[in-house]
Amino acid sequence: ASTLGAAAAEKGRYFGTAVSLNKLSDSTYSTILNREFNMLTAENEMKIDALEPNQNQFNFTTADRLITRANEIGAKVRGHTLAWHSQQPGWMQSLSGTALRSAMKNHITQVMTHYKGKIHSWDVVNEAFDDSTGGRRDSNLQRTGNDWIEDAFVTARAADPAAKLCYNDYNTDNWSWAKTQGVYNLVKDFKARGVPIDCVGFQSHFNSGSPYPSNYRTTLQNFAALGVDVQITELDIEGSGSTQATTYGNVTNDCLAVARCNGITVWGIRDTDSWRASGTPLLFDGSGNPKQAYTAVLTAL
Ligand code: XIL
Repeated sequence: ASTLGAAAAEKGRYFGTAVSLNKLSDSTYSTILNREFNMLTAENEMKIDALEPNQNQFNFTTADRLITRANEIGAKVRGHTLAWHSQQPGWMQSLSGTALRSAMKNHITQVMTHYKGKIHSWDVVNEAFDDSTGGRRDSNLQRTGNDWIEDAFVTARAADPAAKLCYNDYNTDNWSWAKTQGVYNLVKDFKARGVPIDCVGFQSHFNSGSPYPSNYRTTLQNFAALGVDVQITELDIEGSGSTQATTYGNVTNDCLAVARCNGITVWGIRDTDSWRASGTPLLFDGSGNPKQAYTAVLTAL
């Protein structure tokens, strides 16, 4: 196949990108989006501050346009994200205790009900683990009690039973890192106790501080062996040229080697669309031309 999405589909997988809704009017951007990708994630527009700017007042207008575009091009949508310490609206930042726990659950229920039947996978909880200790990250949500994560997943299952429910995080790629083990133990515990969880998202923002690890495939395999799907959810790779292309190819091959790795999403289209302040971490250059990294992914698929 000649596009990322079609090639991935031939392997029973999807190939997605983060979408910034205000760029849909950019014709170069939109042309690549429509041609190459069959899974879309809103880069910011389905986050808590975007959807619930005032408590219990929801604004779905912008995010709904992502669903519309996905329907037009035959793509699916990953929902990102329902419970997170970051990009919370001010009113939520100032809540604590049972009021915050209730607000979290209400947000999950209202948003998932609005999008019921329209979302392939939801990142129910994002980035709940500490970077170094393997324990939980301190946050207002964590301070509502250690059971906040399972409370979020149980609430999510009730709201849209058809959506796959994912835990999503970064720096969980290297099997030997404490954070990876912390998340692994959470998933193992949820499976043992029957807490609903269907998938684990590996953001996979690779750079010199957290490079692509040689045991990445092992990590994906070990999580999948717990009985969950695994998805590469926010891929970008620092670097350029053949070195970067090789790593993109390796990541693609690792996903294909794991039966339960459903798909890969890159975190933006052109290098100039990247959230990274500098560098060239994506598959298309600033003019929208496919890079060596693009060819490496397409060849691997
Ligand atoms: C980033 C967006 O790309 C930026 O535009 C925004 O300013 C901050 O958030 N992990 C995540 C994503 O789960 O939501 C983040 O996206 C990148 C890191």
